[in-house]
Amino acid sequence: MVSTRVPIGHAPPQFGIFNSGSSFPYSIVMQYDIQTLQRAVPMLLAWFCENKRDLPWRKNRTFYTALVAELMLQQTRVDAVKEKYVAFLEKFPTERELALAPEDEVLKAWEGLGYYTRARNLKKAAETIFREGTPRTWVGVKSLAGVGDYTAGALSSIALGLREPAVDGNVLRILTRFFADASVVDDPAVRKNFTCLLKQVYPDETADFCEGLMELGAIVCIPNGAPLCEKCPWNGLCLAHLRGEEERYPVRAEKKKRRVEYLNVYVLKCGGEYAIRKRTEGLLKGLWEFPNEQTSAPVAPSAKVGKLLAEKTAVHIFTHVEWRMRGSYIETEEKDPAYLWATAEEIGRSYAIPSAFKAFKAWVI
Ligand code: ADE
Repeated sequence: MVSTRVPIGHAPPQFGIFNSGSSFPYSIVMQYDIQTLQRAVPMLLAWFCENKRDLPWRKNRTFYTALVAELMLQQTRVDAVKEKYVAFLEKFPTERELALAPEDEVLKAWEGLGYYTRARNLKKAAETIFREGTPRTWVGVKSLAGVGDYTAGALSSIALGLREPAVDGNVLRILTRFFADASVVDDPAVRKNFTCLLKQVYPDETADFCEGLMELGAIVCIPNGAPLCEKCPWNGLCLAHLRGEEERYPVRAEKKKRRVEYLNVYVLKCGGEYAIRKRTEGLLKGLWEFPNEQTSAPVAPSAKVGKLLAEKTAVHIFTHVEWRMRGSYIETEEKDPAYLWATAEEIGRSYAIPSAFKAFKAWVI
């Protein structure tokens, strides 16, 4: 009997490559390109098989573990995620433990990864899966908290064996170089077009193809500087490479400038305890911080009662905002009741302080 079960990360057989029902708008003009890309697919799969990095989320994969990895990897480098991912899964091995955990515990386990909304979304998504089961379609995956088009594609391809491309800046860089395509990649229509194009050549090995593209973008067709074309399985097909113009692509729209905010940060110490407070609004809401005040320009710290032990400055860059901080380490005689006072050990164990304050946390822990 022929089994209808499909291993994780594999699509069921589909007949013909141009019958996916997609409406790639340049389908006639692009016929050559589709065929070229079709030839490139097995080359990438073979290359990925030989060269893939040994990453923890590539072992014993379930939908839940893939979800944890993909949400952690949104806006965070692979190296930073590796250790956090393992520790997080030790604490919350399945969606059940994560769904039932207090939010503060989840935020603590997320500490250091930044962009804490992702941690809250991950918990919400785990609650949904725990309640309703694992989704089976791209639409079902996309409806989970924190999952956009890219992550829905990644999870569908990697954990469900669906032919659903995941197109992010890395994949756009690879494809615009491959086709020497000068489209402005920030335009959502360009992303949509490349998604349709990829869909038409998607192989049965959906997980390996999806991760193969990610891997190529991470270790060969790299951003910022010359790509390592001599190591690329596509160097005989890539138009930008054949023309010696790799670094002309991708073409990007001009970036908006980040808003600069100035903060005075106070690390207040009293009898072996430190003052912290919970942020109640805006950026980093719900996380813990050292008392601070925002100023409209760089100024010296306002006088706080106590003995000044040290001072330093630090900069933290968020997506749209840059914090320029001036920190003062101060020993006080009295504990201001406006704050929660905790020992270094308690802060380390129970209170998530975002990495924006890392330079000042070093005075404490
Ligand atoms: N970036 C996003 N998802 C990834 C994955 N599954 N492997 C490596 N890098 C990634």
